[in-house]
Amino acid sequence: MFKVGFVGWRGMVGSVLMQRMVTEGDFRDIEPLFFTTSQTGAAGPAIGRDTPPLKDAKSLDELKAMDIIVSCQGGDYTSDIFPRLRSAGWQGHWIDAASTLRMEKDAVVILDPVNQDVIKHALSMGGRNWIGGNCTVSLMLMALSGLFKADLVEWVTAMTYQAASGAGAQNMRELIKQMGVVHAGVASELEDPSSAILDIDRKVAETLRSSELPVDHFGVPLAGSLIPWIDKDLGNGQSKEEWKGMAETNKILGLEANPIVIDGLCVRIGAMRCHSQALTIKLKQDVPLDEIANMLAEAHPWAEVVPNERDATIKRLSPAAVTGTLQTPVGRLRKMGMGGDYLSAFTVGDQLLWGAAEPLRRMLRILVE
Ligand code: HSE
Repeated sequence: MFKVGFVGWRGMVGSVLMQRMVTEGDFRDIEPLFFTTSQTGAAGPAIGRDTPPLKDAKSLDELKAMDIIVSCQGGDYTSDIFPRLRSAGWQGHWIDAASTLRMEKDAVVILDPVNQDVIKHALSMGGRNWIGGNCTVSLMLMALSGLFKADLVEWVTAMTYQAASGAGAQNMRELIKQMGVVHAGVASELEDPSSAILDIDRKVAETLRSSELPVDHFGVPLAGSLIPWIDKDLGNGQSKEEWKGMAETNKILGLEANPIVIDGLCVRIGAMRCHSQALTIKLKQDVPLDEIANMLAEAHPWAEVVPNERDATIKRLSPAAVTGTLQTPVGRLRKMGMGGDYLSAFTVGDQLLWGAAEPLRRMLRILVE
């Protein structure tokens, strides 16, 4: 059995990964060993069986004994440990949620329902570095996989509505705290049906702009507002999150030599853990809408097409409906006014599942099977 070392299993993505692995019985087929950066010797997580005391995540010797290492510890850990492990001659498989190694030549960005062929090819060539993709990119590809498989996509714009979880656990807490402060500021007026809505609105606006609102993590209000910038400023008018759309999509699909143009605008909104995206897709040909819907629905077991009707859309195509599930529904499918080869679509997906933990556990399964 492969010895598999887990680092960063206690954080948000790591915890989702542990839950999913327990649910799917993945621990049965491996010998799991848990590492820590701070509590060497303490007990490991509850995974339904005994595991040895926690090992030191900074010990190259302990890490070198692993056949596979799965890291959800973050980019700083990867930058520190990974190069030293490889220089020390470690030949094992490194599966990582952090973005640090994503664009390296010898790294494969893993999303097997979409790029199983790229993964299998890299494996046959001795690939050992398997990196989870950016959540927005992975969720867009899960939703549109049928069109990419059919080679129908000329270009895509993605206008995103990204959840707080993408910024981290502390940001999710801050969003809820902001909501609470906003509500508390007008709670008595809300109880009074005769109070004037414009007075309530004025007080809400004052609260949003006041020092009462907790903004340590987002820097600005998110509740009752939005933030049209995600990740670093690249200095050319584009955010790093927007840059990833094209760079990672083409890397995932193995199309770097002949890339598909993907661009858009990434926006943080007050959802908890589902990223949504409004997509405009330029098709290579004018394919009938029912054929498109079939391609999308049949692409993989988690694909789902929501009929482009009001009731179905508002009930099934929202963060509230999709959160905590593995489905990657796509809807609002419509040929746009610009012509029959312009398709509009809207998709929602859980940022912590297909956007983070799920591709890692599935890569582990590919290696183990
Ligand atoms: N960068 C993404 C976000 C999450 O901020 O929503 C990580 O893929």
